[in-house]
Amino acid sequence: MATLPAHSALAQQFTHWSQVLPKQALDHIPGEAGAPLVGHTFTQLADPHGFTRRMHARYGKVYKVRSFGRWNVALLGAEANELVLFDRNKVFSSEQGWGPVLDRLFPRGLMLIDFDHHRMDRRALSIAFKPEPMRHYAGALNRGIAAQVGDWGGAMKFYPAIKQLTLDLAADSFIGLPFGPEADRINTAFVDMVQASVAPIRRPLPFTQMRRGVKGREFLVDYFTAETLRRRKMAGESDADGQDMFSQFAVATREDGSLLPVDQVVDHMNFLMMAAHDTITSSATSLVWLLAQNPEWQEKLREEIMAITGGPDETGTPRDLAYEDLGKLELVEMAFKESLRLIPPVPSTPRRALKSFEYGGYTIPAGTAVGINAAFVHMMEEHWEEPARFDPTRFTAEAVKARHKYAWVPFGGGAHMCLGLHFAYMQVKVLMTHLLQRYRIETAEGYAPEWQAWPIPKPKDGLQITLTPLD
Ligand code: HEM
Repeated sequence: MATLPAHSALAQQFTHWSQVLPKQALDHIPGEAGAPLVGHTFTQLADPHGFTRRMHARYGKVYKVRSFGRWNVALLGAEANELVLFDRNKVFSSEQGWGPVLDRLFPRGLMLIDFDHHRMDRRALSIAFKPEPMRHYAGALNRGIAAQVGDWGGAMKFYPAIKQLTLDLAADSFIGLPFGPEADRINTAFVDMVQASVAPIRRPLPFTQMRRGVKGREFLVDYFTAETLRRRKMAGESDADGQDMFSQFAVATREDGSLLPVDQVVDHMNFLMMAAHDTITSSATSLVWLLAQNPEWQEKLREEIMAITGGPDETGTPRDLAYEDLGKLELVEMAFKESLRLIPPVPSTPRRALKSFEYGGYTIPAGTAVGINAAFVHMMEEHWEEPARFDPTRFTAEAVKARHKYAWVPFGGGAHMCLGLHFAYMQVKVLMTHLLQRYRIETAEGYAPEWQAWPIPKPKDGLQITLTPLD
């Protein structure tokens, strides 16, 4: 086993992501510095998955790379996913992993706090994902999706259409706002923030995306602050409490019965909207693309939906998906899981080690920025036969039981596992219910869009599909 180099600075406590780990602390880990100044940043951005495959072939499951201004250690494999996500020994900080990307625009969101504080706030927020509110969102999703999907049809770019629809649905289910000008203003501010979070210029200089993002944040902070106070007052005065997520957060309490501080409700709300938005958009787009490529599976899903909902009514209008029937769409769920395997919306997950730990024969020191890679592990032949093939039967109960639990991690795992995963399943199932009762999803012969792989996958041309009405 490689030993840890002696260096006095290694004894330091790492309390903020900006603290630098001395370079020699990682001398014993194989890897590459890349080009002067920029390291491997641009090589990685140009083709993140190809880069990981090349580095894995060269160095194995543990290697270091200099990119995005610092050294990062990649930990590849289902075992690495388990070690980092399950985090039995409280080694890995999510706050310090995500901090460099998200801290300016989405500070103190759930992924930007750790351990006891995180556990307390997560428990308070989970009130918004209990069966009663979820039933309410199911109604809102059916209404919003039915109205929009009815207007689709013919040739269209799917990605921008589902992105807009997801924003409108979030305004309704998350904030309790009907489609309209107020929802539009919020959506614009929000999109500015999300784009800024991955903008290359990290300072809010005039005319930059970061400046627009910071302005968007100011607007939303003011809006959510005033609304939290208003909704608290309303909740006290009437028993008709709002069922949307924000109204639930506004009155969420910690274990000691105290309300969450207003600024924290605001931060959690901003973060949650970000966590939900591009991820659902990306995964719904991948599923639509994969169903267009695999018409036999598309047909199986349609048959299942027709059987569970009873199919369109006598006027030809698709029926809604009842909240009670969500669990019955087993094939839809398996197909969605398979698309999340092939194109995970969060391809890799950063953390920072607060204590030294062992993996793959190396001792990795406290202060190291580490990353696990769902996209890579989802394609490893040791877990997936013919990994490039679309095959939803990989997700039958027996197949899942026979596999390493952390070989499939599109929603992460452990304490920070996606809080909104059931909402994501629900939105995609309701979408499929309305889409497949009305249309056949098709693409032109030989069409294969190029995908932008990072930070969240999307088809560069917006995904050109044709929705042909069923006879
Ligand atoms: C297909 C859609 C989605 C995918 C693939 C996804 C993926 C993820 C992943 C991988 C994480 C964990 C990141 C980490 O451990 O560092 C996460 C966390 C989170 N997600 Fe999702 N997400 C999706 C949809 C949603 C939705 C719809 C919501 C809200 C309604 C949501 C809210 C959150 C929140 C609040 C966290 C932070 C949890 C915590 O730190 O405790 N996500 N998501």
